[in-house]
This record gives sequence, structure tokens and C-alpha cells, in this order.
Amino acid sequence: MDTLLANNTIVHDENRQGEAFAPFVLDTNRYKKLFYIESYGCAMNFADSEVVASILQSNGFGATKNFEEADLIFVNTCSIREKAEATVRKRLTEFRRLKKSNPGMLVGVLGCMAERLKAKFIEEEKLVDMVVGPDAYRSLPGLIEEAETGQKAVNVLLSRDETYADIAPIRLNSNGVNAFVSIMRGCNNMCSFCVVPFTRGRERSRDAESIINECKTLFNDGYREVTLLGQNVDSYHWIGSSQMSIDGTGEIYEEPVSFAILLERVAQINPLLRVRFSTSHPKDITDDVLFTMAKYDNICNYIHLPVQSGSTRVLQLMNRTYTREWYIAKVNRIRELIPDAGISTDMITGFCTETEEDHQQSLSLMRYCKYDLAYMYFYSQRPGTLAARRFEDDVPEDVKKRRLQEMVDLHRQNTLESMQRDVGKTCKVLVEGFSKKTQEDLQGRNDQNKVVVFPKGNYKKGDYVFIKITSCTSGTLIGVPVTV
Ligand code: SAM
Ligand code: SF4
Ligand code: F3S
Repeated sequence: MDTLLANNTIVHDENRQGEAFAPFVLDTNRYKKLFYIESYGCAMNFADSEVVASILQSNGFGATKNFEEADLIFVNTCSIREKAEATVRKRLTEFRRLKKSNPGMLVGVLGCMAERLKAKFIEEEKLVDMVVGPDAYRSLPGLIEEAETGQKAVNVLLSRDETYADIAPIRLNSNGVNAFVSIMRGCNNMCSFCVVPFTRGRERSRDAESIINECKTLFNDGYREVTLLGQNVDSYHWIGSSQMSIDGTGEIYEEPVSFAILLERVAQINPLLRVRFSTSHPKDITDDVLFTMAKYDNICNYIHLPVQSGSTRVLQLMNRTYTREWYIAKVNRIRELIPDAGISTDMITGFCTETEEDHQQSLSLMRYCKYDLAYMYFYSQRPGTLAARRFEDDVPEDVKKRRLQEMVDLHRQNTLESMQRDVGKTCKVLVEGFSKKTQEDLQGRNDQNKVVVFPKGNYKKGDYVFIKITSCTSGTLIGVPVTV
């Protein structure tokens, strides 16, 4: 297993694997064909599947949760680590087998693996009928027609401006409370280990007005939390022609919209709409963003700030463009401006040339930062990345895994302590549904993104409830409702 997940969260979760969904109760007579989508990878991929569903639905296709009755099967894929690709390949082989008993069925691969491997899927591996990259979803209806006539249907063109801004995503597996909203696509950061710049293309920001409108619609539809998504949200920058009013007066300004301004505008939609965002890059997060977070109660005090390594030497090889000291200064600044902020991170063990001393520095950084949540991985070389071209993948796999295990053990201890610090405190929880264990309890998350479970009383999904924390496990806070 190359991924270890320390806690429950819906934000930044490329551990979510193979979720299938359908947006509405099916009326089989209404649609010309039925499609099924299974999604892998990060939140952005899941948000993309909602765009794909919208494009397909407006072209006369209907969704089903049952792949056995589908005419079209789509797998939205992830390339971030070798294991992620292996999982998808296995699944595609299963669908290929299913095709033998249902020859009319078409299988399409979407997303990052489609972009990375391109027509190889059809030519060499003969696994699928359609290969569609992340910027080519508008062409899906045409590609389906091509595939139906037995042609190769491939579109993996990356775009410099596609953001799907005008497409209203269909909220597929939604609980009706939380929703992802993509605010940008691609990444310009070229971290040496990372395949994303190659699979998602150049960074581009989405029209600010379309983001605000999507969030307003979500709120009016009963949603109470939006998570603004981008690989590097702090470099969000919109200078389109349809500028929005940035001071609330209705007057149109020609000023560019930064992430701090966008965040403020989303927070102003309604105090009952919680706002989260992911991911922040330590080199780009600004004081303006932190001030905006501190100013608005409904912007959650939670920052996902991936560090990747605690060693400045390794960070340089990773091309992260900051040092250990710079990162620590950022964490200190966050704690100074938002004392109760929850902070989470991503860590990689066993990157090229990593020594025991480098590894110890990663552990000591984790001890210092006391992360509330961490996603930890061992390094997986990705073809075509800067690291694959420049450095030898020279840390043996057993060493990578042993270091990962040490990191996970340390983090478990950190999270338990972080949870225990909350016992006795009162926090505001947005109810997301029943607890996983019993329908007698409800569960939601607090400002810091921690899962809180409490007796259901008369509360329901979408309510805000003040909970006094009475006990905890390493992953969950347990409490009782109180009035404040
Ligand atoms: N944009 C975010 C950032 O800058 O941190 C995250 C991008 S990536 C989708 C999520 C995480 O996967 C990264 O933060 C990194 O820890 C991990 N990751 C990326 N490439 C990896 C690789 N080749 N091997 C292991 N982990 C990797
Ligand atoms: Fe990958 Fe770095 Fe971009 Fe994150 S910031 S997506 S790690 S290249
Ligand atoms: Fe996301 Fe995986 Fe692509 S993490 S951007 S789906 S490579």
C-alpha cells in the first residue's frame, strides 16, 4: 500500500478510490443511453466527473449507479503514483471482460491517466474504446458517436483556457451539504516528483463571477459548505472582461481578483455558508488570505499546507522553492494570525537521495508543526517528471516504507494529542449526516475539519450545532449538544 490515510476528510483526498454515482432516479425511457462513472484520485477529479455528468446529461444520456446496465462506462483516472494507475488498470481489465458479454457497451478512460498514456490505451493495451483528457470533456458526445461506429475515439488536447466555467456540475454522490467548486485548473509549479503539470496542463483561473454564481446557487439549493479547489489556490488570478463588483456596491472595477478577494466574496454570500479551500502552496499563501480568514467566521480555520519534506536539501531537489525555515515561518505566521487554525500537510518519504538525516528532519518538522492531519506517501517515480529525468530513484523500497511507517507512527501520536487538546472545549459543527456506526448519532465537522459525533436529538443534516467535546479517539471527537 503506498498511501496511508490518517483520518477522515473529504478535502484533498486522492485516496478516494472508485466511487460510482448517479445524480437522479433513473427514467430509462427518457435517455438515449445510460452512463456509469467511477472516479479515482483527488477532489478535482471528482469535481470533473460532475462536469462530465452535466455534459452527458445535457446531450441526452442518463446516469446509472449500476455498471451492469450501463451502455457507457467511464473511469476517471489518477496518475499520481504507480499504485493509483495499477488500481485503474485492474478495473479496466474487469470492464473489458464485461464487454465480452455485452459487446455494445463502450468503455472510456478519462482524466490524468488518459492524458499521460494517450492513445496507448487503445493501440497497445486494447483496454478501452475512448480516451479523453481533462480538458476535452466537451467533445465527449462526438467521441461517443465515433466510438459507436468502431473508430478510435481519442482527444487528449490540453487547453490554455478551458475551465468549464459555464457548465453547471451535476452534484452526483452528494449529501446535499458539502460541495466542491473548482476555481482553477492545471499547475505551473513543476515540483520535480509530480506528474500533475503534465496531465493537467498550464494553470488557468476560472471566471470569478461564475464561481460566485455557482456558490450562490449551491447555497440557495440548501448546501452549507463549499470547498474551493485548485492545485495551488493562492495563485488564483482573474482578470477577465466580466469583472465582478469587488466592494459589494454593484460598481464594476477593472482590478484583478486575487484569491483573498475571491475568498471574501464567497464568504459574503451568506454567513451560513461555510467556506473551505484546498490546496495552499507554502510559497504562495499570503497574509491577505490569512487576514480574510481571520475576518470572516464562516471561512473555516483550516489550511492544507503540504510541505513534502523537512530537509531543505531535499526540498530543493523537489523544486518546492522554499526552505525548512521558510515553511516554519509560514506555520508560525498562521498560528499568530489564526491561533486556533487546524493545519494539515502532505509528506513524501524516500525521495531521490534522501538520507536518514533528511528523514529525521522530516520527523522533527512534524513534531514542531503538530499537524492535525497528514497524508503520507512513499516516493513513486513517475515517467517524464523532472525527478525521473534528472535523479536516480536510489532509496530502496523497504527503506522508503520503513521511513513512511515511522512517520505514520509519529503522526498518530500527534493527532491523538491534537484530539485530546479539544476535550472540554465547545465547537460549532455543521451536520453532514448519520455517524458511520449508528443512526442514533449524527456526524459533522468543526471549523478545523475534525470529525465530531454526537447524539442526534432533533438535529438534521445542514444544521449548525454547538457541541461540547467529552471524549475522543485518534480520528473522532465525541460530544454532546449545548446552547451557548
Ligand atoms: N498541489 C498540491 C501540492 O502542491 O502539494 C498537491 C498535489 S498532489 C495531487 C497530492 C500529493 O501527492 C502531493 O502533495 C504529494 O505529497 C503526493 N505526490 C505527488 N507526486 C508523488 C509521487 N511521485 N510519489 C509520491 N507522492 C506523490
Ligand atoms: Fe504537483 Fe507541485 Fe503542482 Fe502540487 S504544486 S500539483 S505537487 S507540481
Ligand atoms: Fe488529481 Fe491524480 Fe490527476 S491527484 S490531478 S487525479 S494525477
